[in-house]
Amino acid sequence: MKIAIYPGTFDPITNGHIDIIERALIIFDKVIVAISVDSPKKPLFTVDERMDMIKEAAKYNSKVEVDSFNGLLVKYARKVNATAIIRGLRAVSDFEYEFQMALMNRRLNEKIETVFLMPNEKYTYLNSSLIKEISSLGGDVTDFVPENVKIKLTNKQILHKDNT
Ligand code: COA
Repeated sequence: MKIAIYPGTFDPITNGHIDIIERALIIFDKVIVAISVDSPKKPLFTVDERMDMIKEAAKYNSKVEVDSFNGLLVKYARKVNATAIIRGLRAVSDFEYEFQMALMNRRLNEKIETVFLMPNEKYTYLNSSLIKEISSLGGDVTDFVPENVKIKLTNKQILHKDNT
């Protein structure tokens, strides 16, 4: 069975991420969407909230698993018997960072390949920070995130307003 990991922060998952997962499923038997717990970013959602949002958004496909990991990605990959790391390339600007990370991961474990996939052009300008900003300013994110994520974003906003 060919297993791939799709790692990231996923704060929150977007339609662009979903697009990459679907493309990965054409190549791999199982895709594990894995949230990095040690991310230096200050996430809006807890790891559990992010995992629940991904599970809900991907529940139509039994070949998708959702997990979280601490520490090095290549160590986690070995633990779950994955042979590949999936990363999305949205634009040329992603390349340098992704190239460095892929080569470093290969240096750390040469048995794990990084596979780059390109999302549909309509998602090339998406990222999670922009979605959070648009949502917090009352903009409509319907086209950018799954319905369950849109609801969670709205709820966070209400909660935040109530606490200020
Ligand atoms: N659609 C929409 N947005 C996308 C996207 C797509 N297809 N692909 C990437 N993005 C966005 C993300 O939403 C994110 O946006 P944000 O910065 O606003 O949060 C940004 O692009 C890139 O982040 P992401 O894909 O979440 O990756 P990351 O850079 O946060 O995660 C890890 C990087 C977790 C994979 C990396 O840090 C890691 O492997 N950490 C584990 C520790 C380790 O092994 N370190 C050594 C690495 S060599």
